[in-house]
Amino acid sequence: MRDGSGTPYHYRVVRQFTVATVVWGVVGMLVGVWIAAQLAWPALNFNLPWLSFGRLRPLHTNAVIFAFGGCALIGTSLYVVQRTCETRLAFPRLAAFVFWGYQAVIVLAAISLPLGFTSTKEYAELEWPIDILLAVVWVAYAVVFFATIARRRTSHIYVANWFYGAFIITIALLHIVNSAAIPVSLTKSYSAYGGAIDAMVQWWYGHNAVGFFLTAGFLGMMYYYVPVQAQRPIYSYRLSIVHFWALIAVYMWAGPHHLHYSSLPDWAQSVGMVFSIVLLAPSWGGMINGVMTLSGAWHKLRTDPIIRFLIVALSFYGMSTFEGPM
Ligand code: HEM
Repeated sequence: MRDGSGTPYHYRVVRQFTVATVVWGVVGMLVGVWIAAQLAWPALNFNLPWLSFGRLRPLHTNAVIFAFGGCALIGTSLYVVQRTCETRLAFPRLAAFVFWGYQAVIVLAAISLPLGFTSTKEYAELEWPIDILLAVVWVAYAVVFFATIARRRTSHIYVANWFYGAFIITIALLHIVNSAAIPVSLTKSYSAYGGAIDAMVQWWYGHNAVGFFLTAGFLGMMYYYVPVQAQRPIYSYRLSIVHFWALIAVYMWAGPHHLHYSSLPDWAQSVGMVFSIVLLAPSWGGMINGVMTLSGAWHKLRTDPIIRFLIVALSFYGMSTFEGPM
């Protein structure tokens, strides 16, 4: 039953993802520093194609979002789901496959992007064999997560798991649909979609990657760690449910705002614009719920550095989701 950590929970895979988060955070941000330096001193590409800005920039974005952010999300989700469902992780061997499979995808990205193999779709640059591996790993992750929820010992599914669950299902859908392609060789493929439809599918994916990877997933993290760290119940459980469904319903339609004044039909651009404005409400629902959870515990800001990071994160989330609709 036990994994050597002295608890009834399975923490090994959580620990592995946590270490990987730190490693990929350092790597991804170093590449960021390097390409930032290239913008000032272009000679830093040393006239080598695989060190050029155009190839290292997608390496940076993939590394920080999917390697650094992704490992943090998967690791914390596998911790939170066990704690809130009061049960041990389902299929620990499959969870180990998720860890090593995800690391394999990251390493393959780190090799193939500098070599210039790219689908050219932003945030979905990986070529089709790596896309297929990622789809398999992601479905395995979904099986581990939802099987753990199915064997929960609580009657209720805590709201953090709803956010993580939406993140897992939606990313699978977005990745599989947007990556559909016709291969011409092991390292080259063409999108299954053409013209403006390809652009629309790409930004339906791209914007929802922000909405479900960088928002819903991290809100899952917020709904567990903010109440735990503040030692207070969530401010409004009702608000968490209302803004969850609002977020899910609204985010999906905002993608066309990446294609304003393009050849996308005007009506689709208008839909994207209107939904982007409406999106302020569900976004702020999460921010307000997090910040208000700290009301009455503000004194902890003086002594608890973790609370400080959490409140700064919530504040920037509030500001950037204001900036977007504006
Ligand atoms: C040391 C920290 C970092 C540095 C120096 C850095 C640097 C850069 C640079 C130079 C670019 C390219 C800008 C351009 O094309 O003109 C970029 C783009 C980007 N970075 Fe970073 N970055 C850092 C951390 C991060 C982190 C932590 C994230 C997210 C988790 C992130 C996400 C992105 C994204 C999404 C883009 C694309 C933005 C766009 O196209 O508008 N970066 N970064």
